[in-house]
Amino acid sequence: MDANGLRRAFTSFFADRGHAVAPSAPLIPHHPRAPLFTNAGMNQFLPYFLGEEVPPHARVTSVQKCVRIRGKHDDIENVGRTSRHHTFFEMLGNWSFGDYFKEGAIALAWELVTEDLGLEPDRLWVTVYETDDEAAAIWRDRIGVPAERIQRAGVDNFWEMGDTGPCGPCSELFYDRGMGPGPGPVRDDGERYVEFWNLVFMQYDRQPDGTLLDLPKRNVDTGAGLERLLSVLQGVESNWDTDLFRPLIAEAEAATGHDYGADPEVDVGLRILADHARSMTFLVNDGVFPTNEDRGYVLRRLIRRAVRQAYQLGVENPITPRLVQATIDLMAEAYPDLRVNQSFIEGVVAREEERFRSTLRSGLSMLEEELSAGAKIISGPVAFRLHDTHGFPVELTREIAAERHVEVDEAGFAAAMERQRELSKEGGKKEAGEQGPLRETYRDLIEEFGPTDFVGYRENESTARVLAVLPVAGANDSELRHVEIFLDRTPFYAEGGGQIGDTGTIRTATGMANVLDTTAAVPGLHRHLAVVLEGVISAGQVATAAIDVDRRDAIRRNHTGTHLLHWALREVLGPHVKQAGSLVAPDRLRFDFSHYGPMTSEELERVEDLANERILADEPVDAVSVPRAEADRMGAIAFFGEKYGDVVRVIRAGNRSTELCGGTHVAALGQIGPLKITSEGSIGANLRRIFATTGTATLDRLRHDEQVIGRAAELLRAQPDELATAIERRLAELRSAQDELKAMRQAAVRDQARQLAGAASADGGAVVARRDGMDQKQLQELATNVRAEPGVRVVVLGGSPAAGKAALVAAVAKGTDLVASDLIADAARIVGGGGGRNPDLAAAGGNDPGRLDEALASVRAKLGLES
Ligand code: SER
Repeated sequence: MDANGLRRAFTSFFADRGHAVAPSAPLIPHHPRAPLFTNAGMNQFLPYFLGEEVPPHARVTSVQKCVRIRGKHDDIENVGRTSRHHTFFEMLGNWSFGDYFKEGAIALAWELVTEDLGLEPDRLWVTVYETDDEAAAIWRDRIGVPAERIQRAGVDNFWEMGDTGPCGPCSELFYDRGMGPGPGPVRDDGERYVEFWNLVFMQYDRQPDGTLLDLPKRNVDTGAGLERLLSVLQGVESNWDTDLFRPLIAEAEAATGHDYGADPEVDVGLRILADHARSMTFLVNDGVFPTNEDRGYVLRRLIRRAVRQAYQLGVENPITPRLVQATIDLMAEAYPDLRVNQSFIEGVVAREEERFRSTLRSGLSMLEEELSAGAKIISGPVAFRLHDTHGFPVELTREIAAERHVEVDEAGFAAAMERQRELSKEGGKKEAGEQGPLRETYRDLIEEFGPTDFVGYRENESTARVLAVLPVAGANDSELRHVEIFLDRTPFYAEGGGQIGDTGTIRTATGMANVLDTTAAVPGLHRHLAVVLEGVISAGQVATAAIDVDRRDAIRRNHTGTHLLHWALREVLGPHVKQAGSLVAPDRLRFDFSHYGPMTSEELERVEDLANERILADEPVDAVSVPRAEADRMGAIAFFGEKYGDVVRVIRAGNRSTELCGGTHVAALGQIGPLKITSEGSIGANLRRIFATTGTATLDRLRHDEQVIGRAAELLRAQPDELATAIERRLAELRSAQDELKAMRQAAVRDQARQLAGAASADGGAVVARRDGMDQKQLQELATNVRAEPGVRVVVLGGSPAAGKAALVAAVAKGTDLVASDLIADAARIVGGGGGRNPDLAAAGGNDPGRLDEALASVRAKLGLES
């Protein structure tokens, strides 16, 4: 039976017994309590164990890809040195969510291995948890396993997913490869007894404080190692001799020129290559890429470990792509998506290998120097330099040193790392503010995948791969659906050169996101700022990226329109006109340029006419990439102050305009539609700014203007053409009405003045009166009018022009010895204010109108009048 046969036999056995067949989940688990990588078949069922979701089937079976590096289950150090440890393996499993328990699980497992798979019952041993009498009894009494082949163990028979989470006592099945009586698996953990199936009776949830809580239900979680079971079925000594590994070992032999089986140390290296080939292939396939953090770091370490093995075995050429290829040839039948992603995976590992190889030699010789100088310990600074300058994960340094029985000064290394973190934190703060922590990820992305392949010159919709999905910096919990999506290729233009970023959608098989904007996270790396509206989008997925085409078309029209404007301005105003900035949006364009004064309306019209002539001529627009010198020869104008590379993109917008530009443009000038300048003004010394519209925006504007004019004409009851005459007429009417009003008001004031003055003779030419509701200015006007009446010597008026306000005015006739400001000084104080110093006409204000009468009485007293 080969691997494909075993996968089928296992799942169909359980399918025949009422189990639903679940596909393998990705290696990157989604559940918040799941480990870093999927490390067992049960990970994808966490919500069912924890009672968060109701399982659609009470019985399930699957073949699950697993990675065991980092975390509670980490097998990397054993790889190559035993017959059965791998960083990547496949787990055959069956599950019961509150359905059958110990008895059912044990009976099913026994039936499958002894009947369907035909293992000799006499070679099978089982273990149970030290206190699990129930499981021991089932094996002995129900199945008939002799008591001496049932052993008990402690922690080894209590399976836990991680430091916390679902767990429970377990019972394991072993196959005895040896001859004659033996001590059994609990006493011999060497190669004789192969543990191939673990039946976990999942009933607890380990808490962070170590306590065990009951899960809502009692469940079964079993896991049989495909590779181990296969080695037993194929009657070979180790997993490496099965059909799942022989072709990979053969590839490693071919690549290194070493024969397997000739030298035990070389064999370890060949096995590591075969093992890591699988894990790197599957990790990249599921969206991990080599970086300095988390999963990416694990992958980086794997690839570097393999490359270093190959290097030690004398391989000078890239080896990881061919290992990946061999893995895919072997596994694509069971995992067809590997074939789809093949060139991508090969590219990722090849680039990582290339990067590492360039420093590997110097790093190794540095380490070699230390070791051959008889160092007893690799110092912290040396380990750090290897890590920092030579890309040696410290684990790698540790391994190489250990081969020579030398240790690494871990504390010294940790201190050096910490120092660097501090330094880069300080540097990062200065450099990038809040974005600091993300910048490294951006750099990793670009280092890993190179710049984003922008295909938006040709495509509006593209198939791409999701490289990473990051939370938007500073997003809070409720905004977690706001993400930055990175693709290997994209039709979305990233804001730049004045043109704003595209919007649109990104869809994958499991989700959909709305792209709200596109910018460059770092130069060359397109960042799609998006909000996930449906499902999830994850790294590694194939995506359909589609821009909002109508919006982009409007942007195109404005961008090519900007080039025509630039050309036309230089034609009309002269070659001193240089672009100083621009903004190309869907609804309008803005163009800033150098020029010494306002443009006349004739100049503006001329510019519009020239641009529209070219548009109507409908000349083609094309883009060529040429060396800078060639662009200069073509007479291309460059945006002043912009940086350009050695090879530049030249846009010829018709026969007249030639400009360097990375933006998106129409195919022919006619597509721009009518171009209209909407405003022109100054934005600084010798700097002008023009706004203009093109295409439908010009039409929209025309309609808008028409509406405004129409409404105005309606209000004036005139035809639009007669608007100006109608407005002039109305203005003349208004002016004469205003004149009339003014004359009437003056007459009224004079009337009031005469009345007030009438009483003055009795008081020796003095008028003191209260007038509310008149402001300061009106009071003054009235006071001077009163003063002009015959016989008036002095006028003091007070009043409250508005709530909380008091106003006082004094006017004194020529030839008296009274001082206007003195007259109201005390009064002003009484109403809580102060006033002017003018001797003839003084005004004062206050904010206590309640005391106005008192204030006026004080004026009377001062003038010697009766109150
Ligand atoms: N979760 C258990 C294991 O990984 C059984 O599937 O061994």
